[in-house]
Amino acid sequence: MKKYLVIGNPIEHSQSPLIHNYWIKKYRLFDSIYEKRKTENKDLKNIIKELKDEKIAGVNVTVPFKKSIIPYIDELDQTANNTQSVNTLHKVGNKIVGYNTDTLGFLKTVHDYYNFINSELDVDVPSRNFFILGAGGVTPSIVTSLQFLVGRSPGVIWVSNRTKNNANQLKKLFPKIELIEWGERPTIFCDIVVNTTSVGLKNDDKINIDFTDIDKKTLFYDLIYNPKETNFLRDARLRGNKTINGQMMFLAQAKEAFRIWTNITPEIDDEVIKLLNK
Ligand code: ATR
Repeated sequence: MKKYLVIGNPIEHSQSPLIHNYWIKKYRLFDSIYEKRKTENKDLKNIIKELKDEKIAGVNVTVPFKKSIIPYIDELDQTANNTQSVNTLHKVGNKIVGYNTDTLGFLKTVHDYYNFINSELDVDVPSRNFFILGAGGVTPSIVTSLQFLVGRSPGVIWVSNRTKNNANQLKKLFPKIELIEWGERPTIFCDIVVNTTSVGLKNDDKINIDFTDIDKKTLFYDLIYNPKETNFLRDARLRGNKTINGQMMFLAQAKEAFRIWTNITPEIDDEVIKLLNK
């Protein structure tokens, strides 16, 4: 039996088993199963041992272990190293390798979106600017994706976070980002505003930044997918801005993890989306 796991704390609400077990069945991997396991810091070493001994075939890592798992891993892929954030583990040869599929997941959804609306993000525009809210565990993955989109353009990635010290830590990892006071926003046009904070998880949560006169071409992206529409996205939609929630990114990071483990690139079909919306 090949056992896959998602580890985190809390873990009860993880929807990863739903997705991966759906794909396991769809691609007829009848010897495989995907489970969740509530984990403590002291268990991390043993998880890596179980991977080494092939008692586990692959692991997804979620909050709060994406960084703290790193000392136990033999090798990091480039993105995991750049972001110091690991969400997928796999044994390659005799080594346990840590990957970050959040970055690619986010990037893919942004590409799909701009292809879908047939916009100019795919051609050379003089400058692309982005505005990120938050400096938490997932933010380095988003900065890495957006740095790729900025490319060689003179565009800027602005970051605003409630706690200055956490924003400063992020700037140490990504010196090119520009910090901005919490509550303020850049005055130049931003292609995308991304919420990476946990504000919005509770229905009455609100981000106190005034976006009323923002350009209608700005896309509002919230990494939260439950609730499906946070106040941040609802206000944007009512202003006439386009919005995306975190569901597609969640599926896209899972797709890439499944590919790493099985060499099968699973399809994000209507069925799997329906499963998440139940
Ligand atoms: P993680 O484990 O990923 O770091 P987190 O602690 O919930 O998750 O925080 C994620 C982000 O949400 C952080 O940027 C955090 O801001 P701080 O650095 O100031 O803690 C942000 N966040 C959480 N609650 C917030 C709130 N009420 N207002 C503004 N930002 C908030």
